[in-house]
Amino acid sequence: MLRKALPPTQLLPADPMPEYNFKSSRMRIGILNSGGDCPGLNAVIYGVVGAARKLGWEVIGFRDGFEGLLPPGDYMPLEADKISGILKLGGTILGTTNKGHFAAKIGAGDIMQVAPEIIEKTKATLKLLEIRALIIVGGDGSLTTGMQLMDAGIPVVGVPKTIDNDLAATAMTFGFDSAVSTVVDALDRLHTTADSHKRVMVVEVMGRHAGWIALWGGIAGGAHVILVPEIPFTFESIRRAIEAREAKGLHSTMVVVAEGAKFPETGLLTKENRSEGEHRLGGIGEAVAAKISQITRKETRSCTLGHLQRGGSPTSLDRMLGARFGVKAVKLIEEGKFGHMVSYQSYHVDSVPICDAVEKPRLVEPNSEIVQTGRAIGICFGDD
Ligand code: F6P
Repeated sequence: MLRKALPPTQLLPADPMPEYNFKSSRMRIGILNSGGDCPGLNAVIYGVVGAARKLGWEVIGFRDGFEGLLPPGDYMPLEADKISGILKLGGTILGTTNKGHFAAKIGAGDIMQVAPEIIEKTKATLKLLEIRALIIVGGDGSLTTGMQLMDAGIPVVGVPKTIDNDLAATAMTFGFDSAVSTVVDALDRLHTTADSHKRVMVVEVMGRHAGWIALWGGIAGGAHVILVPEIPFTFESIRRAIEAREAKGLHSTMVVVAEGAKFPETGLLTKENRSEGEHRLGGIGEAVAAKISQITRKETRSCTLGHLQRGGSPTSLDRMLGARFGVKAVKLIEEGKFGHMVSYQSYHVDSVPICDAVEKPRLVEPNSEIVQTGRAIGICFGDD
């Protein structure tokens, strides 16, 4: 098999360590996924291992996110048998965490520096294992950590991951399409029971501070009201929308609310404020349902889809995106494009500097064509 040389890095070890278990003549790269899981992570691993094997490289997968980098290292060699059949699997064979020693974003998205001794320990593990480059599959928090590792001299390439689809510099992240499919399936089911009982059904979806899942899931799932963080809403507007439907003889109403939407006057609802990692959002679905019931006197129920949106098999689009992203990440290493992140633009997989992706989140533009599409088909966004 053809073996290609990697660009020299600061991590090239002088001598293999005595405990070292692998054949030292081989090129070796590492991969980890960090933060919340999402459908398509295994597809990325599949793409990375496939492309690396073609080059004669070995791939080491670190377990449980960055934590697997801490000495002595918690890892598994990703050989052919490990990736067989994983393309269709949800979750990640490597495990992940959004807590631990490497959190670079906490609370409401404040940036924190990873402790220098943790970075030194990471370097020691990578050196011990003779890992020349590290692929980090993550959202903005994990990629921010990745940039800090890069600044410390570790050659890093990033792969954007999140169901929230809120990373700048990439038109789409894998996992989003699977999450939207789950929302659409749930809306289809909830719609029939809402119709039977002439109820208002409020469905809370994930997305953190971005309304992408609510917007796409809501439009594709036939919602009548969509509430997103980017568009402030009033209950007066929602009441009018429900009453207008009633006047037309339409006695059920489907409301989709993003977990990060701001409740009028009180704002964001959180379930848990964390000192390690970002706050957990949630609870707005129930609050919105209670208020709608109070102001319309209609029977109202709420349903929070929660982690159903993160589980299960990836859609074919997410399998494709994941595999393509994985292959591109290996290509970036081959080209020595460290500090870059794979990016999806105009049907093409390219790359951008990681810093372009994590500077600020990509939010729904209130006047965008997609929101206008929703308005044109009669969806209320709670602002008219
Ligand atoms: O970022 C992905 C995401 O699923 C968000 O949509 C959600 O707010 C958060 O993660 C949930 O995190 P956890 O799994 O820690 O509850």
